[in-house]
Amino acid sequence: MMPAMWSSETWFWPVITVVVIFAAIKLAKPIVHTITQPFFAFSMYFFAKLHNRMLGSKKTELFETMEKLLEKVEGDVLEIGAGTGANFAFYPRDCSVLALDPNRHMNYYLVHTKKYYPHVSLKEYIVGVAEDMKKIQDQSVSAVVSTLVLCSVESVEQALKEIIRVLKPGGRFYFMEHVKGKGFTLTLQKWNQPWWFYVADGCRLMRDIEDSIRKAGFKSVKCQSFEARNVGPFIKPHIMGYAEV
Ligand SMILES: C[S@@+](CC[C@H](N)C(=O)[O-])C[C@H]1O[C@@H](n2cnc3c(N)ncnc32)[C@H](O)[C@@H]1O
Repeated sequence: MMPAMWSSETWFWPVITVVVIFAAIKLAKPIVHTITQPFFAFSMYFFAKLHNRMLGSKKTELFETMEKLLEKVEGDVLEIGAGTGANFAFYPRDCSVLALDPNRHMNYYLVHTKKYYPHVSLKEYIVGVAEDMKKIQDQSVSAVVSTLVLCSVESVEQALKEIIRVLKPGGRFYFMEHVKGKGFTLTLQKWNQPWWFYVADGCRLMRDIEDSIRKAGFKSVKCQSFEARNVGPFIKPHIMGYAEV
């Protein structure tokens, strides 16, 4: 006979409760995503326009070497977390772009944005994450672009590994990201992270992305830090630059 401590009445309800909670969490994630993803795509369309207005000159500076790069290392530009196509305005002539984003609702806005930039050709829209770009072959693209994306990926290290894998020799990874601040900005980031994570689609405010890029194994890294004006106080610290393989 079972001791009273192990009777079915003792373990049945706690076990069932744990199983139900895990099942609810597993099921809730895709349901919540179904509801929130169209909203994020819609709001990103407007935020990206605002970010471009505030940082247009910085983006022009970031992408000014891309035309020369594409002459030297011919091929496609892969944009990870392409969102609503905010960077099309800054790409050089005859640029062929592969856009990758896990949120399929972004595609509608990206195709709409594309109409204004006929100098860019959209080769493919890939629904997927930067950490696992199995659709893209090793050493197959000339440049990879990421703007405001590495704050949202689950693993920065894995995404960078994939970026290095898909770049052709001599290819470049162009980035512009908001990053961990210092002093009072860091305090503001700590205070605001909990709610910001949910309203900004899993965005982490306190990532040291420059450090991750420098440790990822690129041949060379060119990176500058700057404060973005007129954006929220806790997303002011930015970095931008490029890394070569
Ligand atoms: C803040 S938005 C930036 C969009 C665009 N790059 C821009 O500068 O306007 C972040 C984008 O990263 C995408 N994203 C989130 N997690 C990702 C992941 N693991 N891999 C690739 N993209 C991701 C989101 O769907 C979203 O489109």
